Amino acid sequence: MIQYPKAFIFDLDGVITDTAEYHYLAWKKLAESLGIMIDREFNEQLKGVSRIESLERILSLKPELLDMPVEEKEKLATKKNEHYKELINQVTPEDILPGIQKLLDDIKSHNIKIALGSASKNAEFVINRLGLKNYFDYIVDAAKIKKGKPDPETFTIAADYFGFEYRECIGVEDSAAGIEAINKAQMFSVGVGDRDHLSDADYLLSDTDDLNFDLIIEKYISNHK
Ligand code: BG6
Ligand code: MG
Repeated sequence: MIQYPKAFIFDLDGVITDTAEYHYLAWKKLAESLGIMIDREFNEQLKGVSRIESLERILSLKPELLDMPVEEKEKLATKKNEHYKELINQVTPEDILPGIQKLLDDIKSHNIKIALGSASKNAEFVINRLGLKNYFDYIVDAAKIKKGKPDPETFTIAADYFGFEYRECIGVEDSAAGIEAINKAQMFSVGVGDRDHLSDADYLLSDTDDLNFDLIIEKYISNHK
């Protein structure tokens, strides 16, 4: 008999919908207001990383800014979030990435639990705008996470909620920090993106459209032998 996994834990931004692009645009706008230029390659280091840590990484490009008071940093992080919120206000169910809805349906029809493991404090808002809230048995509250990705906490907290062993869970991610977090949790990692950044994924696909329930299960099972 097939030993199915007990839960899938999904990242949100860049996996379920392309809000990773919106985070990038919002950071770029903020960075430019500080005289800092960032590009997509640099942005790979921001994916999966918390708001304040992302700001620190951007400020480190202009080291003299790193010493500004904490309150100033908080103001900048809030400003980025305001740019970002303007963009996510436009999100609709049409923005669900290809292959995601079918995968969620297939997981549900096998009675496997689904959790959302996002670092974003806007995650629930985005999931509601996409009309996907009902698929999720548990949504990790990013505000309660003590150590963000690449620490495994975001993923282990979801498995602990269900009471499942970590090795019986699958994590799906588009960021290097996220894949590292899943691997550190001893879960099976599915990466969506390119090999340059996600080579540590147990199973790597270039596009969400390639996510296929049966193939993921096949890889997951052969990984457990
Ligand atoms: C992650 C994104 O999902 O959430 C990061 O990949 C983002 O880019 C992080 O910085 C925190 O998001 P928010 O919405 O709380 O600023
Ligand atoms: Mg992501």
